[in-house]
Amino acid sequence: MEEKRSQAPARELLPRHIGIIMDGNGRWAKARGLPREMGHQAGSKVVGEIIRHCKKIGVPYITIYAFSTENWKRPAKEVDALLDLLRHYLSNMEEYQKENARLRVLGHLEPLPRDLRESIRRAEAESAGNTAITVNIALNYGGRGEIIQGVRRLLEEGVSPEEVTEELLSQRLYTAGMPDPDLIIRPSGEYRLSNFLLWQSAYSELLFMNVLWPDFTPEHLNYALHQYARRSRRFGGI
Ligand code: FPP
Repeated sequence: MEEKRSQAPARELLPRHIGIIMDGNGRWAKARGLPREMGHQAGSKVVGEIIRHCKKIGVPYITIYAFSTENWKRPAKEVDALLDLLRHYLSNMEEYQKENARLRVLGHLEPLPRDLRESIRRAEAESAGNTAITVNIALNYGGRGEIIQGVRRLLEEGVSPEEVTEELLSQRLYTAGMPDPDLIIRPSGEYRLSNFLLWQSAYSELLFMNVLWPDFTPEHLNYALHQYARRSRRFGGI
């Protein structure tokens, strides 16, 4: 079956928060005899189009997995290319202002190069008042690490074991104050979460698609949204 639809479902059936694991850039490049970096470049072009589509149809939060804490294991050339793409992306804040989009970066930022950290700080501050959509970029992000840093914060604050609640820990995660993702999409035919939003995905609907991320279009997103709209979410009830 063709994993595409020309229209999104009605607004009341849409998720409030979509997470996307942008996978398949390397395979896309390899299939064309190109270096992997070209796959990431093609993938980064898709990001803007998908965000604009989310905004247009009325999805208020999107989180995209750009760089995991495990991605440092890749060759230095590829890591540098990914960080350069992010630099380039963050330097284009006029687009965010024009779209009234708020940008947040989720992840362990200290190990990142200083200029990139500074660009992140500036981009988050400049877009803080924007209200049409919140775009989270998961960067040097790992779900287990995020939970660990949340637990450390609770301990530093002197919270006692019996005071610890799900709510208190949620408030110390990078996504504090945001709704959990209703839908997580992983393109490229891989069937795993790869340390993405582990805590927040407790009740997320998961959708795995066969398209590679650089080929992902708004019509693929519409298909995913129709699949989501048909699911019956019970959150452990009947
Ligand atoms: C996985 O594909 C993708 C990544 C590790 C990086 C995703 C990053 C981008 C699309 C660009 C930067 C992001 C922004 C926001 C500008 P893969 O390399 O694992 O693909 P493969 O499984 O086919 O090898």
